[in-house]
Amino acid sequence: MHSNNAESGYFRPTDPCTQAFPGASGILARTPRSTHEMSTKKPWGGRFSAPTDSLVEGFTASVATDRRLYRQDIAGSIAHARMLAHVGVLSGAERDAIVAGLQAIASEIDAGDFPWDPALEDVHMNIEARLVERIGEVGKKLHTARSRNDQVATDMRLYLRDGIDRLQTHLLALQSTLLDVAEREAAAIMPGFTHLQTAQPVTFGHHMLAWNEMLERDRARLIDCRARVNVMPLGSAALAGTSFPIDREFTAGELGFDHVSENSLDAVSDRDFIIEFLSAGALLMTHLSRMAEELTLWSSAQFQFVELDDAFCTGSSIMPQKKNPDVAELVRGKSARTTGNLMALLTLMKGQPLAYNRDNQEDKEPLFDTLDTLLQSSEVFAGMIKTMRVHHEPLRAAAARGFSTATDLADYLVRKGVAFRDAHEIVGRAVKHGIDTGKDLADMGLDELRAFSETIDDDVFAVLTLEGSVNARDHIGGTAPEQVRAAIERARTRLAVLQN
Ligand code: ARG
Repeated sequence: MHSNNAESGYFRPTDPCTQAFPGASGILARTPRSTHEMSTKKPWGGRFSAPTDSLVEGFTASVATDRRLYRQDIAGSIAHARMLAHVGVLSGAERDAIVAGLQAIASEIDAGDFPWDPALEDVHMNIEARLVERIGEVGKKLHTARSRNDQVATDMRLYLRDGIDRLQTHLLALQSTLLDVAEREAAAIMPGFTHLQTAQPVTFGHHMLAWNEMLERDRARLIDCRARVNVMPLGSAALAGTSFPIDREFTAGELGFDHVSENSLDAVSDRDFIIEFLSAGALLMTHLSRMAEELTLWSSAQFQFVELDDAFCTGSSIMPQKKNPDVAELVRGKSARTTGNLMALLTLMKGQPLAYNRDNQEDKEPLFDTLDTLLQSSEVFAGMIKTMRVHHEPLRAAAARGFSTATDLADYLVRKGVAFRDAHEIVGRAVKHGIDTGKDLADMGLDELRAFSETIDDDVFAVLTLEGSVNARDHIGGTAPEQVRAAIERARTRLAVLQN
């Protein structure tokens, strides 16, 4: 949280990444200076004769949250000033003064030395007012041919673009960790489940590859989303465009946008680019949550499939024996907020007429929160996976219990000419016998098995072993260790391709 300096009426920025929800409390709790003093500094104060109510000032201010956009806001302003000079609206000297002033402000904010003022509402007006303070009258020319409406939409797109790029890096690291574990455990046998009941043996590597597939689609969705994020609204001004001879392609080039927006009304008002991201993000968190749930089960005394490293667990304050998988549980728990953030933005948009409405100021906390949650969760998850120990014996023992090779026996009978439905029935009776006698299929003698079908010979035992079972699933997408190794190679190639 930021620390207020009540004396000066300023608060200092802190690292934005550490404060997901700076919250309005910091501002609302401040003792405002006189309402008159505040109202006179409003850049829009000209039309007003009465000062803003101090409650309203606290209620409408967003700077505690949106100051996180300062780098993007300054980059956008510098590009805008250069464009204005390029088309002759500003002189070269005016442009240079503005650019130098903005760069100095960026350093000021970087150094935690900027006098943020909630009376100036948001990040945009704080920076603009400071510019005028630093460079004088010429600073007032920056806002020519621009509105906060196209400014904030631009800032959000730049911020999100950068956020997606950072998230990509985290996902690549997590996925390559998964692939390393998959390679190490390509032949390790474990039970595969349906309905959380033992179904068929699979390999641990195959299970890791399933997780990787989920993340691969998440990453593809983010890349797809980025393409629609990277479109520049600047030039739309308040809603209708501007009467100045702007060169939007020039500004877009400066800021690395792929395209300029086609319609000014749409560009200042829609936040679907954030909704798409929140949707892809909620789904990614849902996937991480499913993986976290499995790790929580697997690391329990009942399963003992894996052990999570001490560095990624915590203890109990009352039960000395406990080692809890809190990281996994928190990832699962935090998926809730990302789903909530998606709902918030969908609901925020649904009733808005064109074009910009102040409702849109509420887009920031959900976006920042989801982004922070995804970055933290994917990073900590990679560490947890990398240090996880896989226990082969309990995995194997669990795979051997529960008649996991029953399907293999049925397939064996089919290969000997029995119809699948009959084979299913025969094996069902054998399993019932196994339950009654406490034996697994592989533990029964040949005579015992032949009581269920005369077609069974002693070559049956090869298919009843766990290795026989997984090796038999030898096709693309199957669990055979050789297929797992081939799938890892393909997955690594895809990672490298999408990386470029
Ligand atoms: N702080 C505002 C937001 O985040 C900036 C745009 C305000 N525009 C306006 N006309 N009041 O949406």
